Amino acid sequence: MEVERVQAIASFSIPADTIPAEFIRPETEQPGITTYHGPVPEIPTVDFGDPDQENLVRMVSDASREWGLFQIVNHGIPNEVIEKLQKVGREFFELPQEEKETVARKPGVNSFTIEGYGTNLKKGDEKKSWVDFLFHNIWPASRVNYQFWPKNPPAYREANEIYAQHLKGVVDKLLKTISQGLGLEGNAIKDAVGGEELEYLLKINYYPPCPRPDLTLGVPAHTDMSVVTVLVPNEVPGLQVFKDDRWFDAKYIPNALIIHIGDQIEILSNGKYKSVLHRTTVNKEKTRMSWPVFCSPPAEMVIGPLPQLVIEDSPSKEANEIYTQHLKGVVDKLLKTISQGLGLEGNAIKDVVGGEELEYLLKINYYPPCPRPDLTLGVPAHTDMSVVTVLVPNEVPGLQVFKDDRWFDAKYIPNALIIHIGDQIEILSNGKYKSALHRTTMNKEKTRMSWPVFCSPPTEIGPLPQLVIEDSHSKYKTKKYKDYEYCKINKLPH
Ligand SMILES: [Fe+2]
Repeated sequence: MEVERVQAIASFSIPADTIPAEFIRPETEQPGITTYHGPVPEIPTVDFGDPDQENLVRMVSDASREWGLFQIVNHGIPNEVIEKLQKVGREFFELPQEEKETVARKPGVNSFTIEGYGTNLKKGDEKKSWVDFLFHNIWPASRVNYQFWPKNPPAYREANEIYAQHLKGVVDKLLKTISQGLGLEGNAIKDAVGGEELEYLLKINYYPPCPRPDLTLGVPAHTDMSVVTVLVPNEVPGLQVFKDDRWFDAKYIPNALIIHIGDQIEILSNGKYKSVLHRTTVNKEKTRMSWPVFCSPPAEMVIGPLPQLVIEDSPSKEANEIYTQHLKGVVDKLLKTISQGLGLEGNAIKDVVGGEELEYLLKINYYPPCPRPDLTLGVPAHTDMSVVTVLVPNEVPGLQVFKDDRWFDAKYIPNALIIHIGDQIEILSNGKYKSALHRTTMNKEKTRMSWPVFCSPPTEIGPLPQLVIEDSHSKYKTKKYKDYEYCKINKLPH
């Protein structure tokens, strides 16, 4: 079946000053109605040659988060390389129709074949798009099928190969910058999308002049499935970007490359960066052309959010932050109460253990069921080095306390917090309050878990002078907490 090309349809539509009905979009899509003509926010332009990599990362990161599309200037690809790419592409589309058909894609032969010269076929009620195109892979070499590369003009192959070489450098730098913007190692994104196997698919879009550009579209609204798309436009504007519920025109910047963040970056970044919704309008008098290159992972590559970014966003992180906020209130009240119990000002203990610098260290203990809980321990006998420890247990008992020369089980009270007086309070109180000796036993059938938070000072700790005077001698040495910790862990005198 002969496919009717839009280039041929344009040739009889222009004198008739009308377009066939199958190209007329519903009003909700017509650019004549839906294009925003108010003050246009500027699509970001990034100086890709900025020697300050930190600044470049910030610019790319902001643009990727807020727009999902930006233009890069000073990208390092020589202008003549881009001009040759455009020249040979334009010359191909200006060839007689039969010559173009020699690289046509074959509908129905293999529904997965995208490469070749083509036109969108009308599917069901869908409207047709005012565009013809040519698709072929340009990288890696193993994915290139020269049967879809035009033989004419003769310079076609060389011009495309030279562009592909240069483009690789730009994409490598872009993926590195995107990775860094996400707080990842520079190679994280590239590795996740196939490394050197990342596939570069070139499309040439040819949008002939159209007598009714207000009614039709070159490409309807979509996001790119790629990792990133790097697009060379010609001088006829047509790209529109959807932002803040409006369609904006992208302005033409000579020699700039237009970067689209694709669906795969949106997925990998767990939604931090957005795949941009965009479409293409056509022009009444001029032929618009564009050369997007879609960089996509190999077909078999599994792509999901990067675990590093999921952890950062996870509900568990949020839960920890909320618990910490509440816990701070409990600890503040506890330290005040302990101070007052020692006959001191309410803030005395908190002030000497660092005030707002008091450090909260969460530990999660996981004690799996144990066939011989009579023979082993989860944690052997010890006192906590902290000021205080606040512990959330699960419902499986296991905590034991040493008192009057005996080990006692602590009973589980739902929703209670277990408070341990730590070594630092024993020191500060000059021995008035005791750091409790305790240990953890296991369960035969059930998993015990506990969530102690150790509150420890960043500062030097010794008995409070007020309490030493009262006792008239100091039972403990004053030392930095980290030295105390070092001595205790290494079983040195402390
Ligand atoms: Fe696109």
